[in-house]
Amino acid sequence: MPTLKDLLDRPVVWKDWDQDQDLLAFLADLQANILKGHGRDFTANVFLSFAGMKPGAIRSLLEKLSYLTTSALDQLRSAEAFKLTGVSGGRIVCVFLSRGAYEKLEVPADQTPADLAFQGGMRQRGALPEITFGGGITVAGLNDPPPADWEQTGPWAPAHASPDAMILIADDDEDKVTAGALAVQRIINGSGAVQLGIDRGLAQRRKQSGGDPKGEGIEHFGYVDGRSQPLFLAEDLAKESQAHWNATFKPSQFIVADPAACTPVSAGSYFVYRKLEQDVKGFKEREELLDKAFAKPIGERAGALVVGRYEDGTPVSLGVDPTAGNPINDFNYQGAAGKLCPVRAHIRKLNPRTIPDDDFERRRIMARRGITYGLREPRDDDGDFSDKPTGGVGLIFMAYMADISEQFEFTQAAWANNSNFPQPGTGGDAVISQRPNPAGGSEILWNDERSGQTASFDFKTHVKLVGGDYFYAPPVSFLQRG
Ligand code: HEM
Repeated sequence: MPTLKDLLDRPVVWKDWDQDQDLLAFLADLQANILKGHGRDFTANVFLSFAGMKPGAIRSLLEKLSYLTTSALDQLRSAEAFKLTGVSGGRIVCVFLSRGAYEKLEVPADQTPADLAFQGGMRQRGALPEITFGGGITVAGLNDPPPADWEQTGPWAPAHASPDAMILIADDDEDKVTAGALAVQRIINGSGAVQLGIDRGLAQRRKQSGGDPKGEGIEHFGYVDGRSQPLFLAEDLAKESQAHWNATFKPSQFIVADPAACTPVSAGSYFVYRKLEQDVKGFKEREELLDKAFAKPIGERAGALVVGRYEDGTPVSLGVDPTAGNPINDFNYQGAAGKLCPVRAHIRKLNPRTIPDDDFERRRIMARRGITYGLREPRDDDGDFSDKPTGGVGLIFMAYMADISEQFEFTQAAWANNSNFPQPGTGGDAVISQRPNPAGGSEILWNDERSGQTASFDFKTHVKLVGGDYFYAPPVSFLQRG
């Protein structure tokens, strides 16, 4: 019989649950959305405060919420049923706790998730002047905007302390998400918990030939998003070509043994939530200005140099025009491909795909599960930028991982923000860097290998953090033990 360590050391063959009691116990206790993204188009992210509640009252609330919580097994079985019959997998509910919840529950220290960044919370960590990572690597901190500059209403009003919990309700039917949020509200009413506010996720999709029949998930700048994922379910591995990029990761990079260990196979995952507002008008205008900065314009490729993929997901490193609408993920930056994609392109800076496998880089990878928020007007693809939003829309960046500091914080601070990664003078990530480029250096030079041209242009980011926190997704048994 496998131990939890064995289960987290190799791809999860979930369909063996009927023959393996430990696998069954693991999957029935682990929350949904970790092993595989829920894929639903609408979400409500309900933020709660437990201020003033006694531990017993919080436990009783969590027990009630546990009956709504979707397990990994529920999710995977209903996804399989959907494939066979077309019957919707229905609603997914996940419950996340922050450090504040553990404190108010008076959980003993040795049963509280130990991650240092989780213990500090996003507000405290985002203000650190520098962060020291494993191996003694010290870099300038995340440089998050102060909470006073976050959204002034809703869950993130600076007057609110960090939320103690977040409940994620997801469905392909928006009305069912609303009904789910009301059901949660009924459970909360009278419990002593206060609902701080709700963020609503609204997936944007675009139908592309050869792509997902539901339409490819895109973010507000218009690019296919969420395509590159670490795979740790055996069934997903079988579907993905991996000749040039090894997308196989151990589940232990995203899932940890739960410290409260209600069962020997109870596991959870750390969860980073960042509401990132996008200035779509500003970004699209700058894509055009970058294009014009080349003596001979390069068209849509200007944006592709910034992101590393064309809008339809075609990697710019392939050196082909985006015609197939097929966002492949089996590529790397070796040889000629490495010249075609700038080292500062968003996807290259945040996953350099070094060959052969580089463990130091690979251990940064997170299981990204983001969803866009705010409405994307259908006319957003018309080439006229004047009506594009400068705010009120964006990406709710969400990701699961085993170590918040070594994965999310390292990626943001040591790579995205760091104009000297991977080489001195590379420049910050034009999509999400939270630090400006130094003036006048090579950080603003763009090379377009295909046309043999160079342009000088400081792209500057158009993404701003407007709220967020660090959470932990405990096993269902932790919520249920009451
Ligand atoms: C509004 C903010 C953001 C936008 C618009 C954005 C956009 C994108 C797009 C279009 C892709 C390509 C699709 C794919 O390969 O899956 C991508 C990939 C990626 N993004 Fe972001 N992103 C944002 C924030 C972030 C943040 C905050 C992080 C982490 C700190 C991040 C990390 C990554 C990673 C690791 C990849 C995959 C790279 C690869 O494996 O090739 N992104 N992003």
